[in-house]
Amino acid sequence: MPTSIAPAVFKNYINGEWVESRGGKMIEDRNPADTSELLGLFPASSEVDVAFAVDAAKAAFPKWRLTPAPKRAEILFRAAEILIERKDEYAVLMTREMGKVLPETRGDVQEAIDMTYLMAGEGRRQFGQTTPSELPNKFAMSVRTPVGVAGLITPWNFPMAIPSWKAMPALICGNTVVLKPAEDTPFSTYNLTQVLEEAGLPAGVLNVVFGEGPGAGSPLLTNPDVNLISFTGSTEVGRIVSQACAPTFKKCHLEMGGKNIIIVMDDANLDLAIEGAIWGGFGTTGQRCTAASRVAVHKKVYREFVEKFVARAKKLRVGDGLEPTTDMGPCINEQQLKTVMRYVEIGKDEGAKLATGGNRLDKGDYAKGWFHEPTVFTDCDPAMRISQEEIFGPVVALIPFETFDDAISIANGVNYGLSASIYTRNVNNAFRAQRDLETGIVYVNAPTIGAETHLPFGGTKNTGNGHRESGVAALDFYSDWKTVYIDYSDRLQRAQIDNTAG
Ligand code: UN1
Repeated sequence: MPTSIAPAVFKNYINGEWVESRGGKMIEDRNPADTSELLGLFPASSEVDVAFAVDAAKAAFPKWRLTPAPKRAEILFRAAEILIERKDEYAVLMTREMGKVLPETRGDVQEAIDMTYLMAGEGRRQFGQTTPSELPNKFAMSVRTPVGVAGLITPWNFPMAIPSWKAMPALICGNTVVLKPAEDTPFSTYNLTQVLEEAGLPAGVLNVVFGEGPGAGSPLLTNPDVNLISFTGSTEVGRIVSQACAPTFKKCHLEMGGKNIIIVMDDANLDLAIEGAIWGGFGTTGQRCTAASRVAVHKKVYREFVEKFVARAKKLRVGDGLEPTTDMGPCINEQQLKTVMRYVEIGKDEGAKLATGGNRLDKGDYAKGWFHEPTVFTDCDPAMRISQEEIFGPVVALIPFETFDDAISIANGVNYGLSASIYTRNVNNAFRAQRDLETGIVYVNAPTIGAETHLPFGGTKNTGNGHRESGVAALDFYSDWKTVYIDYSDRLQRAQIDNTAG
């Protein structure tokens, strides 16, 4: 397996061409496991680049809108086939730029493949309603129409999956797109763009502008020709996005933070729950909005759970995600690592018990990257900041509880509502939990991560603003309903008027 590739200089993709950013400033794309490895230089785009991209998307919209959806789908089917061919190559590259282990980056590319096929299938569906009219000789139906120019702002933790979650439904619905990927993971979006270009997407239908949030993301929010924004990222930035979209009434989808819980009942299969909590808490180095950063354990099994869970966490091998022996890769960047370290201090100050981890790894090969030990706090109070706030790193807070009702109130006692899980063999508790947990996603006997592409994805409270992505639910965001009445009676018929007299 190669260990380095020549750093290349990349360009934005506007109107079917690779073009330099007007400002000429560049951002380095470096390997978080070995920051001496430079993968490429990507444009730090600004408002003028975004304006060109939006103009191109706007100009391409009239034709793309009228391209039959099954024809749009053919391009997506071809793109999925190309992604399959390049899955390994793109996964290796993604591990280099993002740090998560190879089986996970392969999974990320696979999610992009699955979403592309799913949305290609929607080219022949996008069903609306046909229904009787209340009047004779009149027909009523609802059809989906594209919204216009879609501005998509995507995060670094799923560098190919999440751009696909947004771009594929946007495209199949007939929107044109300006995509601004995270500055930490531009290469994976570059690869996805290449695939769509090779698959035959017409010029201007997808435009990609690389850069940072303030420089390249913000102008999308304020540009009056952008009709729709979809953003995945922190709650803090989501609030800014929402406010910036308000003056021009953009349709705005926000996918933000999480503080997801696994509840372990006393009747649970404990070994299964431990495996699930390890994967949910430390998979992707805890850098998922769905990460299980809280585990609430019934008092009767708490001591046994703590002992076994901590022992398993200690055994996790931290390292370069390209090594087959690695279980957990680095944090994405220095800032994220520092956030993790800050929360470890907060946890200690709050009086939680540090059972394992708690330190940055910076000796030997680790010195080249942003590594942190898998960290477990035990005996946490649900009100502590480490039990309440999103950390986005390899830190898990264990919380003891006494009754099922306590567990549900601990679960619901946070400002987030993305994903929750319960391990139990009691079917009554499983059903009560799925009813009462205030999250957009609930798992029974499985961890909080691992959402599938054909079902709605999203959350409540400070996690989201009511929309869902993924699955057919995504179509509701990326299209507008148009209700059509066709009166073939050849006379004026007045609905909602008392016609009984005549
Ligand atoms: C995210 O972290 O933003 O369900 C999304 C999961 C993944 C998606 C996570 N399929 O964990």
